[in-house]
Amino acid sequence: MTNICILGGGGFVGQNLASQLARSGHHITVPTRQRQRIKDLLVLPGIEIVETNIHDPASLERLLAGQDAAVNLVGILNGSRQAFERAHCELPDKLMAACRASGVGRLLHMSALGADTGSKSIYQQTKGEGERRVLAAKGLDVTVFRPSVIFGPGDSFLNLFADLLQLAPIVPLANGRARFQPVHVTDVARAFALAVDDSATFGQAYNLCGPQAYSLQELVRIVAATLGLKRTVIALNPSLSYLFARLMELKPGKKLMTRDNHYAMQVDNVCPDGFPARFGQPASLAANLGYLVDAGNKARYDQFREAAGR
Ligand SMILES: NC(=O)c1ccc[n+]([C@@H]2O[C@H](COP(=O)([O-])OP(=O)(O)OC[C@H]3O[C@@H](n4cnc5c(N)ncnc54)[C@H](OP(=O)(O)O)[C@@H]3O)[C@@H](O)[C@H]2O)c1
Repeated sequence: MTNICILGGGGFVGQNLASQLARSGHHITVPTRQRQRIKDLLVLPGIEIVETNIHDPASLERLLAGQDAAVNLVGILNGSRQAFERAHCELPDKLMAACRASGVGRLLHMSALGADTGSKSIYQQTKGEGERRVLAAKGLDVTVFRPSVIFGPGDSFLNLFADLLQLAPIVPLANGRARFQPVHVTDVARAFALAVDDSATFGQAYNLCGPQAYSLQELVRIVAATLGLKRTVIALNPSLSYLFARLMELKPGKKLMTRDNHYAMQVDNVCPDGFPARFGQPASLAANLGYLVDAGNKARYDQFREAAGR
């Protein structure tokens, strides 16, 4: 597999995967809606960025011409039912059609741990339906991955709590008892990279988790300790968690939390079987949080620069 097209390759997982694959000699194509937003990838050799609309079947077919494999990492956490269905169900359908039309026989698809057509969360329902369609695909060699929450430099999960912890000494936490088994972004990317050429993974779906499960409250306390902050983290009960999600949903701008996220957190996001051995050993959370400190230092430096008018 020399030429690989990564839909969603400009995102958090995508940038990591694109650079891992490019370093091992693959030629990577990354479509994006906005080329400027993924400046870091522009400078890497072996990666071509294409500004295009991947929801347009003709553009998708053009994109896949000459590719050996396609990877679909596109996903959204918030939005209307229609937006979820478009991203998680309709796009995989279009991608599979474009793969067939362009003679691309290999497809790797990103789902999510907890993906389930019967879930109360539309995110998990549509992720479940998307992976069901991909696994039922005829004439394509498909592999599906279902990670728990992913951490690492640039994540939007632990970094969000790192920012919130700066605001006050007491932190009320919705769904603090929800359990996660965070997996490092390089481990997720490595699983994709190793699977590309591995025929034993065809037709399979793999859960991806780190070595240890934590409650959300434990995770936030670990983030506070990493940043050297003394904070009291209080887990809200289920009714208050719902109310908190509802209030956050009404807030204009970027959503910190929605009721759909709240519903998704009602089921533990852990995998008892851990990380599949065929993709190596997963990194521990505790030993790999230095990036949170670096991100905080950079944010402070940017503030000083802004205040100084530079
Ligand atoms: N991060 C996690 O903790 C986690 C956990 C489980 C599963 N996942 C799944 O893993 C995948 C990658 O996650 P991530 O954290 O890397 O996400 P991300 O940083 O938000 O990146 C998502 C990518 O998808 C593209 N995208 C999003 N909405 C789109 C739309 N409506 N039309 C076209 N492109 C769109 C974006 O492309 P542009 O370059 O055009 O903006 C972006 O590059 C997703 O499917 C997510 O559901 C993530």
